Amino acid sequence: MTPRIQKIRKAVFPAAGMGTRFLPATKAMPKEMLTLVDKPLIQYGVEEAVAAGCTEIIIITGRGKAVLEDHFDKSYELEATLAARHKDALLEVARTVSHLAKITYTRQSEPLGLGHAVLMAKELVGNEPFAVILPDDIVESDVPCMKQMVEAFHETQTSILGSEVVEGAAIQNYGCLDCTPDPKNPRLLAVKDMVEKPKPEEAPSQNAIIGRYILTPRIFQMLETITPGAGGELQLTDAIKALLRHEKVYGFSYEGKRHDAGDKQGFLRATVEFALRHPTLGPSFRGWLKDLQL
Ligand code: UTP
Repeated sequence: MTPRIQKIRKAVFPAAGMGTRFLPATKAMPKEMLTLVDKPLIQYGVEEAVAAGCTEIIIITGRGKAVLEDHFDKSYELEATLAARHKDALLEVARTVSHLAKITYTRQSEPLGLGHAVLMAKELVGNEPFAVILPDDIVESDVPCMKQMVEAFHETQTSILGSEVVEGAAIQNYGCLDCTPDPKNPRLLAVKDMVEKPKPEEAPSQNAIIGRYILTPRIFQMLETITPGAGGELQLTDAIKALLRHEKVYGFSYEGKRHDAGDKQGFLRATVEFALRHPTLGPSFRGWLKDLQL
């Protein structure tokens, strides 16, 4: 019998962290609502998941994150006002956000780590492979990053971790893959082992894990058995390491450019690049930048 090809229908968005690197901006406002030009970070991620064929979005929220629900909800007052003023283009923008996908929210009562946040989605995901998108990693690419990964998953039918090659000592900020390229598809990296935030001289490669994952549901069993790691938090990388003992895991060297918008420097750079490429703002913004006496 031919094995059943599993589809990726659900995407989990951990959004319950404290966003301490952006204080004071994130004291009362979720980091995931910071905007690149005019769109919040999380919306870029949700649009990517939808483009990859996901129809159910699961957002892990927590205290002070209610505005995320408002953002993706229908806004009657806003829509009525825009309609009465015949602002049709803006009305379309407002409506599109609330029609993106079916979105469900579940809470992580304390930010006990990324692994713990993903575990909160266990019941909503059920027994099927699913995507995880970290909303502060923004990837620009011709084919959306998660779509590339879903296509690779159709080949592998096993967990896949978005990966990119980082320069020199930067590897110490990431989960690092000990891996070898698959002979049939060099974008796929067969993972032998993983090291979280290695010292540069001890890193087995320069292949860093980024905020895009496709995981098999066995990850939930792993998350339930591992103990808290670095910083007393339940680490997703520890659970994936445990998963490696049961099934194959691949890295996926995606095509595209990633911005670490969870970091101030990365956020500022992404803002400038997105503004330069913006269809209406771009040309005048470029002119203004050129005139700056740097
Ligand atoms: P980060 O480490 O980038 O987010 O986690 P953070 O902890 O909010 O930010 P800093 O480091 O304090 O500035 C990546 C993603 O995982 C979520 C975050 O909301 C973010 O989207 N996360 C993290 C959770 O949902 N729960 C957690 O316990 C930790």
